[in-house]
Amino acid sequence: MATKSKKSIKILFIADIVGRPGRKTVREILPNLRKKEGIDFVVANGENMTTGNGMTEGTMKEMLDAGVDFFTAGNHVWKKPEFLSELEKKETPVVRPANYPEDSPGDGYRIVKTNFGNILIVSILGREGINAQVESPFKCIDEILEKTKGKYDISLVDFHAEVTSEKVAMGYYLDGRADIVVGTHTHVPTSDARVLPNGTAYISDAGMTGVRDSVLGVKTDIIIRLFTTGIPQKFEQETEGPKVFNSVMVDISADRKVKSIHRFDLEI
Ligand SMILES: [Fe+2]
Repeated sequence: MATKSKKSIKILFIADIVGRPGRKTVREILPNLRKKEGIDFVVANGENMTTGNGMTEGTMKEMLDAGVDFFTAGNHVWKKPEFLSELEKKETPVVRPANYPEDSPGDGYRIVKTNFGNILIVSILGREGINAQVESPFKCIDEILEKTKGKYDISLVDFHAEVTSEKVAMGYYLDGRADIVVGTHTHVPTSDARVLPNGTAYISDAGMTGVRDSVLGVKTDIIIRLFTTGIPQKFEQETEGPKVFNSVMVDISADRKVKSIHRFDLEI
């Protein structure tokens, strides 16, 4: 495959974009950041980018215009029924968790052509603490890597999971077999970005892009009421206050080896 003669490839992974404030944050930051940092490819978790729950064609286009190239998802990807037909289209740049039943709408992985090679992008859902009818993420990723062997140059796995032990285990399970393993779902950024012993860039959770003073994007008083009374509450997105842009940057050498991974966090 023809590739750009370039020293290294920079891939930015943007943490879960939550609702309108999250999208505004991406619009304000990403276009300049892409140019300034010379970023080659941008992947974002988009499962909450419409009203904090699910995604639509409109919000997807808005984020593509801001500079996102591809989206991963999670257990909330099904929340907007009108998006299910979009997921079925081959041109929709979104993967939903691969370990849902095979006949679920959309694809769990895609191989994306770029001018620096093919990227395998996989979305996969954890099972610990998540109420979803999915098969083993470990078995599922093995099957995907087997099916796609030799067809890509760089691989990125978004492991959307609740429990840190399952995420760390997945990191080591894929160490040396996937290039980038990024955790999402908790919306809380972790400080364990590192290159694992066999060369995989790993972080347990990239965090969130949205209103900082919230509980995972939801108004704090609502969630406090939920925990103090035990009575289910209607969730409402927080829209006011400073916004965080959580992401990780991965540097890959011209010969497709991971050089580094580091957090890239901004606030507006
Ligand atoms: Fe999620």
